[in-house]
Amino acid sequence: MSMPTGEQPFTATLAEMRAMRDEFQRFLLEYRFGLQEVETKITILRDEFQLMHDYNPIEHVSSRVKTPDSLAEKVARRGIEPDFPTIRQHITDIAGIRVTCSFVADAYRLFDLLTTQDDITVRAVKDYIAVPKDNGYKSLHAIVEVPVFLSSGRVDVPVEVQFRTIAMDFWASLEHKIYYKYDKQVPSPLLDSLRDAAETAAELDERMERLHREVHGREVHGREVHGRYPRPGETPVEV
Ligand code: GTP
Ligand code: MG
Repeated sequence: MSMPTGEQPFTATLAEMRAMRDEFQRFLLEYRFGLQEVETKITILRDEFQLMHDYNPIEHVSSRVKTPDSLAEKVARRGIEPDFPTIRQHITDIAGIRVTCSFVADAYRLFDLLTTQDDITVRAVKDYIAVPKDNGYKSLHAIVEVPVFLSSGRVDVPVEVQFRTIAMDFWASLEHKIYYKYDKQVPSPLLDSLRDAAETAAELDERMERLHREVHGREVHGREVHGRYPRPGETPVEV
């Protein structure tokens, strides 16, 4: 079944429209389940960190399933066929989760701890922390696939996970507001100021992390192995 493109006249009986609505809801439900699976994984990591290391690397977590409107807009913008298999294949941010961390090192650690789990498949990674976007945007993005077990069997659901610091998040939410306020045509002096602000945010991240390490030393993260957290089976050592 396809969604109406608006190019041909669209006619459907009430029963057909209901069937279409049900199919769409079922399609989105898989993504909600995928999101729940990844959220649980993040929650487990956070709670375990708190308990084992007496340290919480996560400031906050937010998640959303794309609204039908926003999905339809993206399908149209990308010019892809508006049928479910094509959408499933090409639109990988229908389920999205944002993990805002205390420090840059925590963003990478959590990325590492999530993506090395053996039921997780990494489909794509964009490291905008190492290589920021031209406008100054920074975040670590991963498209991961997580298995969801339905009564009809297993489906692997793509979920977009964004890891960033509070400073990066602050910058991104302001930039987002400005971008839409100016209807995507931001005046060039404002773009320069935004790039400048992104640098200031990055400097703040560095200073805060350095300060944190000075105050707590590395032992606050507890039992690190070679500067990172121990993987299952590895022996933790004090550094
Ligand atoms: P979209 O079509 O926007 O989803 O982008 P994409 O498929 O090229 O993926 P990308 O990884 O570049 O961006 C995915 C998401 O990251 C976006 O939906 C935003 O949430 C966020 N993002 C990416 N670039 C920017 C940016 O310049 N500013 C802000 N505020 N957010 C961004
Ligand atoms: Mg997106």
